[in-house]
Amino acid sequence: MTDFEAMWREIAPVGRSAATGGYLRQPWTSAEGELRAWFVEACEGRGLRVESDGLGNLVGWWEPAGSSPEDRLLTGSHLDSVLEGGAYDGPLGVVSGLAAIDRMRALGVVPRRPVGVGVFVEEEGSRFGLACLGSRLLTGATTWEAARELRDREGVFLADALEAADLPGPSADGPDLLAGVTTFVELHVEQGRALVDLGHAVGVASGIWPHGRYRFDVEGVADHAGTTRMEDRRDPMLTYAMTVLAANKAARLSGERATFGRVEVLPNGTNAVPSRVTAWLDARASSADSLDALVERITTQARERAERDGTTLTVTAESVSGPVSFDPDLVGRLATGHAGGDWPVLPTQAGHDAGVLSAAGIATAMLFVRNPTGVSHSPSEHAEVPDCLAGVDALAESLTRLST
Ligand code: GLV
Ligand code: MN
Ligand code: MN
Repeated sequence: MTDFEAMWREIAPVGRSAATGGYLRQPWTSAEGELRAWFVEACEGRGLRVESDGLGNLVGWWEPAGSSPEDRLLTGSHLDSVLEGGAYDGPLGVVSGLAAIDRMRALGVVPRRPVGVGVFVEEEGSRFGLACLGSRLLTGATTWEAARELRDREGVFLADALEAADLPGPSADGPDLLAGVTTFVELHVEQGRALVDLGHAVGVASGIWPHGRYRFDVEGVADHAGTTRMEDRRDPMLTYAMTVLAANKAARLSGERATFGRVEVLPNGTNAVPSRVTAWLDARASSADSLDALVERITTQARERAERDGTTLTVTAESVSGPVSFDPDLVGRLATGHAGGDWPVLPTQAGHDAGVLSAAGIATAMLFVRNPTGVSHSPSEHAEVPDCLAGVDALAESLTRLST
């Protein structure tokens, strides 16, 4: 069994629901803590020096004698999942990073730059709503003062979640995990079918679509489901229902993406008109302007419907990420010059810590590993073992090119 397969087997049961096969690896929960502990042990077993920032972000460093601390090369990804997520989104990049170091060592590679494997916490924003929270805090894209106000679905503040996870929180004298990092290469399972269609096991990302999360709060008036005449109601569910249809149509017409995947209803009773519906729009488009236009179109239609329904609508942007073009030089260096031909270069509509590090001025690129169904953020997310091993080889080759 390869190092990759042995590690994959170790983490496979952590946070997996026996009922659905989906993963519940929300940040600062016991499942995610178990994975972080596993990662520290895996690093220590390889003689990698582990740095932690007190928030849950981690890096394991391979620092051969004479390697320059000013010019660090980082790989890695995240260990948290969406609710009922798949096994690969995130962990594939972390496990492949460790396996790539094993492979480089087995081949006798001695890097001239320190090579690190990073774990970024709360990449999915599944608990506190802000995507890539760990890398945003590391790069300063989000401040601790702003983050400490965030609450999860149960109303728990971020600082209290950290304390419950035995993490000390940010510290002015703690290590800066990104100090000296000049290059970042994240390996990730592909979240579409482009590599299947192209017949390649591995590809390189060119950039990330801008995307955002917007909370729609619709207020109505609670009333009796039997005695209230249909024409007398102020029903926020109607405003919400029409908004979902409008979002779907707007995105289909412009070739973009709009999804309502989360909704909360108050009081959520069968025999009452609800008083309030809160729903979250996830919108993505090929440019920042087209994203703004898409969200504007959906919001306008929601407002018009709210007026007809006698409800009130408030829209709040909770997490917005701008467009990302990965470093063209780095993309070219990774994609070309292979014995078997160039690796395909493709854009993605999914968000990643790589986007946050790129926006912070670090030369960044991503490798994608083929996903036979293209499905992601679902228990059906998959990659075949030979493709995962091709990914490890591709990452080892990339890290070797960039460090020797
Ligand atoms: C993260 O995977 C996202 O694209 O939301
Ligand atoms: Mn994801
Ligand atoms: Mn991911």
